[in-house]
Amino acid sequence: MPSLSRLDPALRSLFTGYLIIIGLGLLMSFGQILLTHGMADGKLGLSVDDVVYSYYGNREGSRLETKLQGSMKLMADEQTRAALVQWVRKGSPEAEWDARIGKLVAENCTRCHGVIPGIPDYTQYAGIKTVTEIDEGATVPTLARVSHIHLFGIAFIFFFVCGIFTMAEGVPSLLRVTVVAFPYVFLGIDVFSWWATKWVPSAAYLTVLAGTGYALSSGFMILTSLWQMWRPGRSKKDA
Ligand code: HEC
Repeated sequence: MPSLSRLDPALRSLFTGYLIIIGLGLLMSFGQILLTHGMADGKLGLSVDDVVYSYYGNREGSRLETKLQGSMKLMADEQTRAALVQWVRKGSPEAEWDARIGKLVAENCTRCHGVIPGIPDYTQYAGIKTVTEIDEGATVPTLARVSHIHLFGIAFIFFFVCGIFTMAEGVPSLLRVTVVAFPYVFLGIDVFSWWATKWVPSAAYLTVLAGTGYALSSGFMILTSLWQMWRPGRSKKDA
């Protein structure tokens, strides 16, 4: 059985380079998750709500409805707001926009939306259409695409991370066997949880659990492997 402390120097430099780059890649991917998914609920830091917003969406209504109950409430009287909400719930048909809704919006909204740079322009149907749709989170085609990339890619990465770690010495056998299987178990849970969250929002807890599991098990394997390859006073027999 080859051992990390007695590796051929060329193999040792190959493994070291690989583990460092993969370790950096994992750190970057956690950073990226924080900045994209992490901001989904509008607050920095990954929470279960972020996962729910990303995969399940916000089904309580469209952005337009949310705003009309929030910061845009004072911009129109109650009747106008009700007319807008009804129109949105009907699927915001363009014919009605031309007939009636466009005029209401022109009277109440476009003195800002269409004039102030940086806020959406609602002088045209296309401009307001994007905030009338109910946010249903990730679509099935998107999920299928990211799932297969994720399954293939991550399985590959961990094959080598775990493979290198199997050459570590002094790790109790049960821990060795389980820690090598962990990333694959968490990979399965991770991808499963995205799909499950699309239908059952509380499955988002599984996504967070799986992410934590990857991070801990890969961190443990990478650091242990690097330490055993470079630890001062390691056996120099074959090196
Ligand atoms: C006095 C100016 C003003 C008027 C009038 C106004 N808005 Fe706004 N609206 C803003 C500003 C500023 C923002 C961005 C800040 C915010 O989201 O509260 C905004 C944001 C929004 C957003 C969120 C856009 C997004 O993509 O996040 C929606 C939806 C919206 N307004 C709808 C309306 C509707 C419908 C009306 C008319 C009933 C209206 N607003 C009237 C100034 C205005």
